[in-house]
Amino acid sequence: MKILEVKNLTKKFGGFTAVNNVSFSLEEGQVTSIIGPNGAGKTTAIRLISGELDPSGGQIIFKGAKITKASLNKHAIRGISRTFQVPSVFSTLSVIDNLRMAARARHIGKVAIDDRCKEILEEVRMLPDMNRMAGELAHSKKRILEWCMSVIQEPDVLLMDELGAGLADSELTSLYDLIKAKAKTITPLFVEHRLEFVFRISDRVIVLHEGERIADGSPSEIKSNEEVRKAYYGGD
Ligand SMILES: Nc1ncnc2c1ncn2[C@@H]1O[C@H](COP(=O)(O)OP(=O)(O)OP(=O)(O)O)[C@@H](O)[C@H]1O
Ligand SMILES: [Mg+2]
Repeated sequence: MKILEVKNLTKKFGGFTAVNNVSFSLEEGQVTSIIGPNGAGKTTAIRLISGELDPSGGQIIFKGAKITKASLNKHAIRGISRTFQVPSVFSTLSVIDNLRMAARARHIGKVAIDDRCKEILEEVRMLPDMNRMAGELAHSKKRILEWCMSVIQEPDVLLMDELGAGLADSELTSLYDLIKAKAKTITPLFVEHRLEFVFRISDRVIVLHEGERIADGSPSEIKSNEEVRKAYYGGD
């Protein structure tokens, strides 16, 4: 089932078109990634889908309903959530309090929040850090905590823009394995520069170049796509 559909999405900044007539869809339970050279329009696409930016044209259809008007909050309530390039944890709260707060934002009145918080910290091997102030964490752990804060809200779709920035390969490997393991209930869409991770876990890869979608297919199709190779390496 298509959980999210993007149709002819366009974003202009003044006279410059950052995202040009891009269409693709996310299948529920599948791992989809967006790749492309610097400035291809990946972040802009994520910001449009998350509701942070209003599109100049086109449509975003989530679970069959149009949601073109921008609002991060409304999108989050509907079930689309995103992680940010810079970790947005509350420095003066403990790790577990950050998580509790995120959980309460979507699980009002639900019991067992603490169990769920500990479970997820265990999954990312951060249980020993649960009582530390989030502000004291290393950058990579802040990023992982921020990801946990999104995941605990159980969004239907989770958008991740360069989640891996500042993470060691081993940390990123476990995080992407978790993303894949959770994909059945939290459909992921991510932007990632390290292509080995992209090709290892994606079911589907969308390639943007100068704002346009130049390819959309399985990792093996994308790896052997001549246009993609040219976009990355230039020339012939
Ligand atoms: N708010 C803005 N105002 C003007 N131009 C913008 C704005 N945001 C992005 N752009 C331009 O749009 C183009 C696409 O930017 P975007 O950040 O989406 O690229 P990207 O694919 O995420 O690149 P990177 O791999 O470097 O993160 C770039 O040329 C960028 O300079
Ligand atoms: Mg970007």
